[in-house]
Amino acid sequence: MLNFEFHNPTRIVFGQGKVADLARLVPAQARVLVLYGGESARRTGTLDEVRAALGERSVSEFGGIEPNPSYETLMRAVEQVRAEHIDYLLAVGGGSVIDGTKFVAAAACFDGEPWDILLQRGRNVQRALPLASVLTLPATGSEMNNGGVVTRKATQAKLSFSSVHCFPQFSVLDPTKTYTLPPAQIANGLVDAYVHVMEQYLTYPVQARPQDRFAEGLLQTLVEIAPGALAEPPDYDHRANLMWTATLALNGLIGAGVPQDWATHMIGHELTALYGIDHARTLAIVLPSLMQSQRVAKRDKLLQYAERVWHVSGGTEDERIDAAITHTRAFFESVGIPTRLSAYGLGREAVDAVVAQLTAHGMLKLGEHRSITPEVSRAILEAAL
Ligand code: NZQ
Ligand code: ZN
Repeated sequence: MLNFEFHNPTRIVFGQGKVADLARLVPAQARVLVLYGGESARRTGTLDEVRAALGERSVSEFGGIEPNPSYETLMRAVEQVRAEHIDYLLAVGGGSVIDGTKFVAAAACFDGEPWDILLQRGRNVQRALPLASVLTLPATGSEMNNGGVVTRKATQAKLSFSSVHCFPQFSVLDPTKTYTLPPAQIANGLVDAYVHVMEQYLTYPVQARPQDRFAEGLLQTLVEIAPGALAEPPDYDHRANLMWTATLALNGLIGAGVPQDWATHMIGHELTALYGIDHARTLAIVLPSLMQSQRVAKRDKLLQYAERVWHVSGGTEDERIDAAITHTRAFFESVGIPTRLSAYGLGREAVDAVVAQLTAHGMLKLGEHRSITPEVSRAILEAAL
């Protein structure tokens, strides 16, 4: 029986040239800190565009937020926020910069040691500075959700948090900002968005028909647009569809009131923290193997997925489930993303290390049935060698 509350306050401003709209979207009196990553925002000219749109406002910058943003780096931004009495944060970048900005927004208002925000998964966040974003990499959905993932380099702990106080006020989505992305990042975006849908869809049926149909539509859209999104020179319509699909994949709508899994993400985060594998690439390793491992618990949804997303018909139920898993793996491989640990030179020692970290981080009962124990995670990873 459906029973839920859905709340998403983020305004989306979508289209070519929309960065100029910052002039009306950011409060006129704001003391703004623009946060960005390595060099891409400056190199591509986006940072200049942002500064021009902000006009006469008081604007400072904080650069150097790395992919998989680190607590150590973000705490330097918190110091700057406090020293300069910043009251508005504007992230310019991909998921790492937006996630990092959410953490800075919460940490700057937090009494006590901000790492506790991660240890408590954000439950202890009572307020945050207002934040907004200019998205340059379609993938995570961070531009329209209230979650973030932060890594503590010192302990290789990559943990997530969420809070109602951390939704961006608005996000500017200009598909032409993706034109400078290397193909590998476009592929990452396709796979990350795909797996976000799967984590909210591939569980068990609860008569949530719009959520199911919407999820299946997003998956089919990603499959349909993948070749065009990867094509060079970039095509506006394909990039626009990728950008909007990735946002819709994790803005709460398809997840409203339905069971969710997220085991693939939790196992994947450990792979990134230990071995530096891009986020989406870890998901492509884990998901096909997890589908195989959970084929009994996920049976009904696997059959629905096979039929509706991949048009698999005929054969026994088990054959149809096999086909669904094969299609999923082939889709990831088709965009150039490997689905085996061995592709990254990792073997059994990596399995031991990941399972140890999952245990250390309390990831003892993952999945929609809380049945993916560290031993089940071990089996999933061993099957992904
Ligand atoms: O650092 P710069 O120089 O800016 O380069 C970045 C970075 O190296 C580059 N890039 C970004 N926009 C570009 C560009 N290069 C050329 N042109 C552009 N327009 O891309 C590289 C990767 O950026 P990053 O932000 O790390 O990628 P992504 O958006 O995939 O974010 C990954 C992070 O998001 C977290 C992941 O765990 C990871 O830490 N996630 C956040 C989620 C959320 N908040 O809801 C959910 C996701 O599942 C995910 O866990
Ligand atoms: Zn993800």
